[in-house]
Amino acid sequence: MIMPTQVQAYRSPKVTIIGAGNVGGTLAHRIAEANLADVVLCDIVQGKPQGIALDLKQACAIAKFDRQIIGTNDYADTKNSDVIVLTAGLPRKEGMSRNDLLKINAAIVKDVVPKAIAHSPNAILIVVTNPLDVMTYLAWQVSELPTHRVIGMAGVLDAARFQTFIAMELGISSADINAIVLGGHGDLMVPLPRFSTVNSVPITELMEISAIDRIVERTRNGGAEIVKLMQNGSAYFAPSAAAFTMVEAILSDRHRIFSAAAYLAGEYNLKDIFMGVPVKIGRQGMEKVIELQLTSTELSALHSSAKSILENINLL
Ligand code: APR
Repeated sequence: MIMPTQVQAYRSPKVTIIGAGNVGGTLAHRIAEANLADVVLCDIVQGKPQGIALDLKQACAIAKFDRQIIGTNDYADTKNSDVIVLTAGLPRKEGMSRNDLLKINAAIVKDVVPKAIAHSPNAILIVVTNPLDVMTYLAWQVSELPTHRVIGMAGVLDAARFQTFIAMELGISSADINAIVLGGHGDLMVPLPRFSTVNSVPITELMEISAIDRIVERTRNGGAEIVKLMQNGSAYFAPSAAAFTMVEAILSDRHRIFSAAAYLAGEYNLKDIFMGVPVKIGRQGMEKVIELQLTSTELSALHSSAKSILENINLL
């Protein structure tokens, strides 16, 4: 007699988002709408994550997606998450630098990360909270996870800003542009025009140096420009889209290559720091740091950015 094959019950991947604010809420929406994973939104404010989860469930009914969405204040509900995305913390207000947020958000990271990891010891942790590179370092320390399982979200966002400004300058689709931005997620980030291309043609072949310099500067201030325009809050559509790209690369084990804040153990002559570099991302987290051959000017800009991150790590 032929026995029917035992089919294991399908277990949807589970993503916990800590912080049900603008970035967290829009990220939950993207994940659910892509049918990528069940989502748990966890926030300190009573009712807020529950309300957003209910709103998202009702959006599911219209858009016909059917992942579970839970809003909670209890970390027990986050247990066995495959990916945890940390968006809890204050966003910037006008005139504030990301570093002004350091003390306030450091206290939040120290509080929430151990609680989340206690319930999901095998998760990959993606950090979005600013100041990004310093908070990623702190999250790694308090999580006690191996370095490859902690990754900061910034490179995809900074590259998207660079791509957008190149597209606007050239009057072309941003879909045809690939850009690389290294370094910290701050004013000293290092957009790399040499490695940024329009359908494989470096932008250095297509634009005057003065235009490139202008765009590089606008990219460095890309977040602040939006904070100034919004007056009360900071960017969230592009940050959540960037975080989604990372979550998807992990859950789908795609081995994608893009910039993210990764732990450096000697790469680019930098040690004991999380900073934006090109990495390979898959189900294990950060699988490899890719070392580009940089010019001395590019390397020195990268080291200036690293110096500023290390100074802030020392303030923790
Ligand atoms: N535990 C859980 N959630 C918290 C905690 C905490 N200890 N402290 C704050 N939060 C929640 C807030 O209640 C709020 O819902 O974090 C959420 C932050 O949401 P927003 O204020 O809307 O901020 P957002 O724009 O989403 O930015 C979040 O990402 O891009 C970065 O600079 C940004 O650090 C900021 C973070």
